[in-house]
This record gives sequence, structure tokens and C-alpha cells, in this order.
Amino acid sequence: MTNRLTFETAQNYLDQQVDERSEEMMIMEDYARSTKFPIIGPVAGNFCYQIARMIGATSVFEMGSGYGYSTAWFARAVQENGGGVVHHVVWDVELSNKARLHLERLGYDDILKYHVSEAVETLENNQGPYDLIFNDIEKDAYPSSLEVIERSLKPGGVLIVDNMLLGGRILDQNDESSTVMGVRELTAQINASDRWIMSIVPIRDGLLLAYRVS
Ligand SMILES: C[S@@+](CC[C@H](N)C(=O)[O-])C[C@H]1O[C@@H](n2cnc3c(N)ncnc32)[C@H](O)[C@@H]1O
Repeated sequence: MTNRLTFETAQNYLDQQVDERSEEMMIMEDYARSTKFPIIGPVAGNFCYQIARMIGATSVFEMGSGYGYSTAWFARAVQENGGGVVHHVVWDVELSNKARLHLERLGYDDILKYHVSEAVETLENNQGPYDLIFNDIEKDAYPSSLEVIERSLKPGGVLIVDNMLLGGRILDQNDESSTVMGVRELTAQINASDRWIMSIVPIRDGLLLAYRVS
């Protein structure tokens, strides 16, 4: 039998390499599956957790947190790093309430700060500086979010941005939708700046990992 390496087979293989999650995390994953809610999933979640552990992050600001699945990975890292703060920011009150239930059950309540508001504005009003910022807001707002992110991240801090591949739409030069243009512009901004060292990691929908040099 020939084993063909495709994007899909590679993702399935990566899925199998992630440790089993707690029952509460599996409930959150099941909910995403049944409602088609776009969480980052276990491979990207574990990657975010690993980065946060590696840099010893104790302050994390998350933009576009949904019902707290990605937040849980960051909160786990911060707790294991000795404690600190993770900001959960989403503009839907139902999602914020749902996140509180899950994250309380997971034992991260003392670490979490909840904001039901627009994420860029909230970051502007809650200047860190932070060790790590995770950006998963509407993609057309990515380019305009970078300025406040740069002001809010410590030198030596890390920015992670989701959906850099947009399910392959990023490859279509004829796609000039605001979503694709937003991702393209953010990628170009960070690539062109000597303040950042960046890579795009092809896990799931593509994670941009950027290290703030200065
Ligand atoms: C992709 S989902 C988040 C998934 C989450 N990061 C996870 O992996 O578990 C993005 C969420 O952020 C919200 N959102 C999008 N843009 C936002 C913004 N500018 N400010 C606040 N919330 C935003 C959306 O309504 C949605 O609930």
C-alpha cells in the first residue's frame, strides 16, 4: 500500500500525536463538532500551550476567545508557569457565559479576566505589556489590529494568529474578499517589519507564530 502524504493525512497524523484531553475539554470539542463552531482544535491548542510554556508566559491576551477552548490551553500553561492572567475577550455575551462555566470547571477561574467587548479596543484599554497575544478575531480586522498588538506585547513576546491559510483560499490570487485581503495584509506587514521574526505553521488552518524582536 502506498502512503500518500497530503495535507489531510498529515493533519490526521498530527491529531493522533496529541495527548488525551480532560473530559471537560472533550465536551468542548464535541460541542464544536456538533455545532461547527470554529475552535482551534487539539493540535493547534497543544501547540499554543507548548509555546506559552516554553516562554514561561504569565500574561496572555486572547482576542476572539469564543467559548473558551483556546483560552483553556493558554490558562493551563499560565497555571503551570506559576500563575498569572489570561484575558478572555469576545463580543458575544452567551459565548462569554459559556466560557466561564467551562473554565471554572477546568479550575482556571483565578487566572481568567473576562471582557464582553470588541477585542482591539479592549486591548487598547488594557495595555499589558503581555508575554503572549493570540489573535482570532474577524480576519478583515487583522491588519488594523497590529499597531495596538505591537504596543501591548513585551519585546521578546510572542504573537500567534489563527487562520493564515483560510482553508486554501489564501492561495487563490483572484480572491480579493475582505477576509483574504485581511490575512494577506497582516502576513505582509509582519514579514516586512524588522520588529518581528515569523513563520506560518501549517497546523489545521495555519498559525502565524511571530517573535517580537524589538
Ligand atoms: C473563531 S472564534 C474563536 C475560537 C476560539 N479562539 C477557540 O479556538 O476556541 C472567534 C470568536 O470571536 C468573536 N469575534 C470576532 N471578531 C471579534 C472582535 N473584533 N472582538 C471581539 N470578538 C470578536 C466571534 O464572534 C467569535 O465568537
